[in-house]
Amino acid sequence: MEDELLGLKNEASTALAAVENKSGLEDFRVKYLGRKGLFSAVMRKLGQVSKEDRPRIGKLANQIKKDLESDFSAQLAALDSQTLTTQMTGIDSTLPGRHVPFGKLHPVSQIMDEVCGIFEGLGFAVAEGPDVETDFYNFEALNIPPHHPARDMHDTFYVDDKVLLRTHTSPMQARIMEKERPPLRVIAPGKVYRCDSDITHTPMFHQVEGFLVDRKISFADLKGVLSVFVAKMFDSKTPIRFRPSFFPFTEPSAEIDIGCVICHGKGCRVCKHTGWLEILGAGLIDPEVFHRVGYDSEEFSGFAFGLGIERIAMLKYGINDIRLYYENDLRFLTQF
Ligand code: DAH
Repeated sequence: MEDELLGLKNEASTALAAVENKSGLEDFRVKYLGRKGLFSAVMRKLGQVSKEDRPRIGKLANQIKKDLESDFSAQLAALDSQTLTTQMTGIDSTLPGRHVPFGKLHPVSQIMDEVCGIFEGLGFAVAEGPDVETDFYNFEALNIPPHHPARDMHDTFYVDDKVLLRTHTSPMQARIMEKERPPLRVIAPGKVYRCDSDITHTPMFHQVEGFLVDRKISFADLKGVLSVFVAKMFDSKTPIRFRPSFFPFTEPSAEIDIGCVICHGKGCRVCKHTGWLEILGAGLIDPEVFHRVGYDSEEFSGFAFGLGIERIAMLKYGINDIRLYYENDLRFLTQF
């Protein structure tokens, strides 16, 4: 039995050395090491060996099996690396890897996220409404009746007499207020459309409308919220000023300017030498708007504001032509 084992070992070693590929190696494994292989066949005869010899022969058999298995693994590894080398022939492994381009958010989306994030931090909920809007919500509910001169400012795209592409996000004030009761703290981000195109206007742009309604809300609350917004969006030292203005849906109304972020108030081309840049419109919600949604204007008061995202992005990044945002030139877009 001992001779048989040693003979098998020699035979298997020679056979293994002669193996040239993986299928040959598998044949080897089945023939010698498999459950029905030659080695198992010899092992089965261990029972016939005398009691005295059995421990010694058993040990020898185990050792031979272990050696064969480790030679088998070594041969497998050698064949694997040979295959790799063959595959790699003709490949220059010193070449740099292939560039995988990463996408990123459009600068307008980045600013939109930042603006919404600031107001969400102040407890405002986010609401979205339709781009295709009715004349009622876009104008009438906001105290802009037919033939009101304010309609001229909006350069509206009409779908038909009563349906249009919303010219601002303010209709969301009426849509939310007619469904819900105060206290309300809402921002409404989205796309708006106006028939206008030059270096500071595109036919589609983005706005965020914000409004807050509760008891005893005053202009001071508006000032507080917008001051926090400007400090977070630009710089805590950015000066801010409120200039009287007019919007049909707010009374009183104001336009809010910040100290020019380019020249810091000294006067430059961007601020037209005034030292100030207009960033948004705002005011206390006109009682007329409350009446249309059934709120008692004696009980509730509130403020509203609306800002243009592209404009904020232009000021923040010092960009002088709004159309750059929509030409999709990657050399421009990947800078943000
Ligand atoms: N909707 C106005 C516009 O697009 C912006 C605006 C001004 C919104 C004053 C307001 C506001 O809520 O109070 O020109």
